[in-house]
Amino acid sequence: MDKFIIHGGRKLNGTVAISGAKNATLALMPAALLASGTFKLGNTPRLRDVTTMSSLLKSMGMKIDFTNNLLTLDTRGVNKHEAPYEHVKKMRASIYVLGPLIARYGRAKVSLPGGCAWGPRPVNLHIDGIKKLGANVELEHGYIVAHAEKLTGARIHFDISSVGATGNVMMAAVLARGTTLITNAAIEPEITALAEFLVKMGAKIDGIGTNRLEIEGVSDLHPSDCETIPDRIEAGTFLVAAAMTGGSITLTNVNPNHFSAVTAKLEDAGCKTEILDSGFWFQAPTELKPVDATAVIYPGFPTDMQAQWIALMSIATGTSIVTDTIYTDRFKHVPELERLGADIELKKNAAVVRGVKSLTGAKVMSTDLRASASLILAGLVAEGETEVLRVYHLDRGYEAIEKKLKALGADIERVAGEEF
Ligand code: UD1
Repeated sequence: MDKFIIHGGRKLNGTVAISGAKNATLALMPAALLASGTFKLGNTPRLRDVTTMSSLLKSMGMKIDFTNNLLTLDTRGVNKHEAPYEHVKKMRASIYVLGPLIARYGRAKVSLPGGCAWGPRPVNLHIDGIKKLGANVELEHGYIVAHAEKLTGARIHFDISSVGATGNVMMAAVLARGTTLITNAAIEPEITALAEFLVKMGAKIDGIGTNRLEIEGVSDLHPSDCETIPDRIEAGTFLVAAAMTGGSITLTNVNPNHFSAVTAKLEDAGCKTEILDSGFWFQAPTELKPVDATAVIYPGFPTDMQAQWIALMSIATGTSIVTDTIYTDRFKHVPELERLGADIELKKNAAVVRGVKSLTGAKVMSTDLRASASLILAGLVAEGETEVLRVYHLDRGYEAIEKKLKALGADIERVAGEEF
């Protein structure tokens, strides 16, 4: 397991290109199961999660080539319809194969993902949605086992707006007989990107980008190509890095509309921003004001930026409250940030963050992807040396993070190989 060694105190300055969105790629790749032929996905980020999804799809018979950031998927040899526990336990997004498999092959066997690093993450909405489309679903020995002669369109209302369930049910419905209406659908940009890709493949979907999706099933889809949208969470993470270190950076390959909730909070904290033709310009203030943030569904403040926001607020000039309504237990980073000198009190699903004058370097442990990002951010400003252990979590979702941070002036090294 690799670790990062960071010497804090360097201002970040310069330009950084944002990679393709992890969460879009993880939905686009299984969508290829819906048609026979060759797909090309450009701007695909080189991430551990993409490798995990590739291994899963290869185990089903797909041929995959990944050259630079171009992913080529050849689905002609797909002959297995199972997502084994060995793959799903590494990455919950593996459940995205459920919808395409049941839609195209009439059967799917997908391991239940179980809990995640910060608590339970149910998949009941995925299962209920597939059942509503007429699939017979049994839970056997830790697996979702689904069969259907032919799926039939249905009206599906999600009690909770779920990114994954919307994506899965949408992928199932595009090949169902008749019309499916999904209400309270997720409107995250990654779901919109998936819907647009499905339309390029020949699907009929109305209401893309809204929480009411009307899908008219078609009998066949065809392969297509697309460019993955920029990663809004990576963009937000770099902005917080610049904000914490007192720097000024420009992001390229971004869609600022996708992270405007984060921009608004950064401006409230005193940061300056400007949307450019070619990207997004950002400057940190001399003093960061405390700003409350509540993680909600899109277009609100994202739960995937909650940990980074707590890191930022830990050096603001006052007290702020950071609440998570999506994942109420997602606070494993808090004790680690405290090891770096942050003053944070947890009250149910909220963190009361009392800004301190400075953080100090220490050894800290990554527990999940975004928690790890918050520790790197804190390390960038902590006095002395910070060691962030178990950075494989970061490699799941940030492409070449240390190279990008170094290019902006950070003092960060990856130490490879040993068991830390
Ligand atoms: C996706 C993202 C993840 C992000 C999350 C919320 C991917 C691969 N991952 O995860 O990075 O943090 O959206 O923006 O895109 N829920 C249920 N039952 C279900 C499904 C979800 O109760 O069957 C609940 C969850 O516990 C959570 C809420 O719905 O409270 C939203 O979760 P969901 O949008 O489904 O998250 P994921 O798709 O797993």
